[in-house]
Amino acid sequence: VIAALTPQTLAGRRVVVTAGPTFEAIDPVRGLTNRSSGKMGFAIARAARLAGAQVTLIAGPVHLPTPHGVARVDVESALQMQAALQPALQGADVLIAAAAVADWRAAEVAAQKMKKDGSGLPPPLRFVENPDLLAAAARSPRAQAGQLYCVGFAAESENLLAHAQAKRQRKGVPLLAGNIGPATFGRDDNALLLIDEAGVTELPAGLQPASKRQLARLLVDEIARRLPRR
Ligand code: CTP
Ligand code: CA
Repeated sequence: VIAALTPQTLAGRRVVVTAGPTFEAIDPVRGLTNRSSGKMGFAIARAARLAGAQVTLIAGPVHLPTPHGVARVDVESALQMQAALQPALQGADVLIAAAAVADWRAAEVAAQKMKKDGSGLPPPLRFVENPDLLAAAARSPRAQAGQLYCVGFAAESENLLAHAQAKRQRKGVPLLAGNIGPATFGRDDNALLLIDEAGVTELPAGLQPASKRQLARLLVDEIARRLPRR
């Protein structure tokens, strides 16, 4: 019923969505992750499907049901997400990077559980930076040729507009969605500032928080409107 009532703004398009956190192992029982719930990314995958797209959802570790009709690939780490993106992006029209990719991973993953050594000192953990999956996609030949439209997210704890505008430039993406307020992780409602070449759009208009489902539909329509015609 919902599908029948949804304008098919993404009919015939192939959309890839990343969602959730990543988990970066430190040893077999420990790791580095973050508080992303995956709800926004899953809602976007659902909305894109309802709008008629063929959707691949690349999900970090979350316990959320797969939206109906969506092809899901489960991954754990940023490097696994990178590997899953590569085949998924071939032939894709849109990438929506909603995942909160961990910025760092352990420089080396201990093969066995790390034990306290009796010195009272913490272990000398070293981290290295993960690749920027969104920036890499935006630099790819297909994105540069206008065949792959890349959408990023930004979660900032302060100065959202300035940080998000800078982030859009740095990542080289045409559209960036900034989460209003730092406390959106895990919540069921949200509002976004959409930043593109032309300026800033409030989503929803007036920034009254909307359910992530509703917001995802609005976002999908905003993206569809910006896609090059075929
Ligand atoms: N992103 C990504 N790969 C990374 C880090 C981020 O693809 N290694 C994507 C996220 O999915 C999101 C966007 O980049 O769409 C912005 O993520 P964010 O964490 O806000 O930006 P960073 O570039 O990591 O900057 P910082 O965390 O330092 O603000
Ligand atoms: Ca980050």
